[in-house]
Amino acid sequence: MKLSIAFFSLFVLGSEVSAFSTPRQSTITSTKLHTSNEEIQLDTSVDKAPCFDSICSSDPDVELSESIPAMGEATQRLGISAGPTVWSEFGRLAMENPSIANLGQGFPDWLPPQFAIDALVEGATDVAHRSPHQYTRTAGHPSLVKELAGRYSRHLHREVDPFKEVAISVGASQALYLALQTLIKPGDEVILFEPFFDLYVNQIKLAGGTPKFVPLTFKPYDDSPDVITGGEWVLDPENLEKAITDKTRAIILNSPHNPTGKIFTRNEMEAIADAVRNVASDDCVVLSDEVYKYIVHSPPIDEMEREEAAQFEKSEDGLKYQPAICQGHIHFASLPGMWDRTLTISSAGKTFSATGWQVGWAIGPERLMAPIHQLLPYVQFCASTVIQEALARALPKADLPYEGYSSYYEHLKAMYTRKRDLLGSALNEAGFGIPDYDKSPGGGFFIFARIGKEIADKIPKDRLMAYNAAAPGTVARQDWALCQWMAEEKGVLCIPASPFFSEDCTKDEDGNPLSDQFVRIAFCKTNDTIQKAANALKNICDDESESEVTNAPQEAISAKES
Ligand SMILES: Cc1ncc(COP(=O)(O)O)c(C=O)c1O
Repeated sequence: MKLSIAFFSLFVLGSEVSAFSTPRQSTITSTKLHTSNEEIQLDTSVDKAPCFDSICSSDPDVELSESIPAMGEATQRLGISAGPTVWSEFGRLAMENPSIANLGQGFPDWLPPQFAIDALVEGATDVAHRSPHQYTRTAGHPSLVKELAGRYSRHLHREVDPFKEVAISVGASQALYLALQTLIKPGDEVILFEPFFDLYVNQIKLAGGTPKFVPLTFKPYDDSPDVITGGEWVLDPENLEKAITDKTRAIILNSPHNPTGKIFTRNEMEAIADAVRNVASDDCVVLSDEVYKYIVHSPPIDEMEREEAAQFEKSEDGLKYQPAICQGHIHFASLPGMWDRTLTISSAGKTFSATGWQVGWAIGPERLMAPIHQLLPYVQFCASTVIQEALARALPKADLPYEGYSSYYEHLKAMYTRKRDLLGSALNEAGFGIPDYDKSPGGGFFIFARIGKEIADKIPKDRLMAYNAAAPGTVARQDWALCQWMAEEKGVLCIPASPFFSEDCTKDEDGNPLSDQFVRIAFCKTNDTIQKAANALKNICDDESESEVTNAPQEAISAKES
C-alpha cells in the first residue's frame, strides 16, 4: 500500500517535483561537474531504488516485505530481503561526508565532450525531418541503428543488418536483461567468471536461471608470503569446461572487466569459443559485455602487433582494411564461428562520460535478435529518441581529431592512462598491490587493489567481523571493514570486493575467501578528487584522522584536465 501511494504521488507530481523528493525518501546532494574552464554546481536527487554502480541507493529503513502485501514472482526470484546493499551503504557514507574523496561509484564526474553536448542540442532542435521528441522505432532509431551497424560491420568484418541485427535498449543493463529473458527458461544455468559485475547475478535470477561461477585464478607477480604485489586474473579453460552442463544456456563474458580491469587474452577467448563449440549444447550463447571497449588503457601487445600487420592485408570477405577504431579490444563475435553464437552488448555511457544517457544496444544474428525485438515493446516503447539521435550524431564526430589526438577515442585512452597512473602510484605508495600495466593489459576505469599487510594491520580490530546488514553474510570481513574504516576515518571511499564474488568463492589455506584481499577503486574521477584521495591514502597507515588530510591538488596535475 505504502508503495502504491508513493508511485501514485510520483505520477501526479510529474515533472514539477522530483519523483523522489518526499522528505522521507529523498536526499539532496551536491555534485560538482567540471568542464575544462568552469565548474558547475548541480543539485542531484539521490533516489532510493536499488541500483548498481550509480548514484542511487535503497532505503534501509523500508521493509519491502511490509510494504508489498504479496511478493510477485520477480521479487521472489531475487529473494529481495529489504536489507541495504553495498551501493546503499557506501552511498550513505558518501552522503554523510560530502568532502570525502569518492572513488566508489563507476561514473565520471565531469561533463561529456563538447561535441557530444552539441550533438545533443542539435539532435533535440533539428525537426526538419521528423520530431526527435516523439516515439521512434522500438528496436532503435533509424539513424542510430544504421550508424552502429556500419561500425560493427568494421569491427566484426561482416555486414551487420541495421534493422534485423541491432536492438537499442535503455543502457547495456537492459540489453543484458532482454538477452537473458529471451534465452533462459527456469532451471537453465548461466556461467559467470568470478569476480563478476554484480548486476548479472540478479538478472539471471530474474529470468529464472541459476548463476554458475567459474573462478578466475589470481596469479600474483610475486607469491612469496611476505610481499603483497598485484598480479593477473587468469582463466583456466578446464574450470570453464567443468562448469558447463547440458543446462548451460549462456556464458557472460565481460572484457575489459569490471571489477578487475582484466582484458581477456585472445587465447582465453579462443578457449571460451572452443568450449562453446565443443562442450556446450548448441543453444548456448555468449553474452559479451563490452561497455569499456574504448577504455583499453594498456592494450595487449600482441593485439597491437596484429592490428599493425592487418593494415597490409585485406580481410577475407574483401572489405577494405580500415584502421581499428577500438585498438587493443577483441570483439568476441569476431572470432571464427562466434558471430552466430554471440550477443554483443554495449552502451555509450562509459565512452562518452554520459552514463545518464542510458543508450545501450545488443548486436547479433537475426535468430537471437528477433526474440529481443519481439520483447522490447513490452518492456518500453522505445529508448529516448532524442538521446539516440544525439548519439547517432556524436559517433562520427568521435572519429575526428580531438584536442591534439587523432580521435576522441585516443584522447579518452590517454586521459584514463594518466588518471590510472596518478591513482596507481598513490595506491602503491600506500602499500596496496596493484597491476603493473607495463606487464599486464588493462582496461576500464577501476583498479582492483590488493590489501597490503601493513594496511590490513591498521584496520581497527573492532571493525573486523563486526555485524553489518549490507555486507555479504552480514559480516564486515577484511575488505568491507577496510573500506568502511577508510570512508569513515580516512576520507577516501572505495568499494569492497566481496559483492563481486559468490559465497562459495575461492578460499585460501586458512579458509578465508579471496575477496578478503581486494578493494575496487574507481579512477573515472576528476584529478582533484584523485589527488585528494592520494593525499588521504598517504596517511592511511598513520594514526591521523581525515581532518588532517590535506586536500590541496598538486601542481603536477594540469588544471585543465578534469
Ligand atoms: C560491466 C558493466 N556492464 C554493464 C554496465 C551497465 O551499463 P549501462 O549504464 O549502459 O546500463 C556497467 C555499469 O557500470 C558495467 O560496469
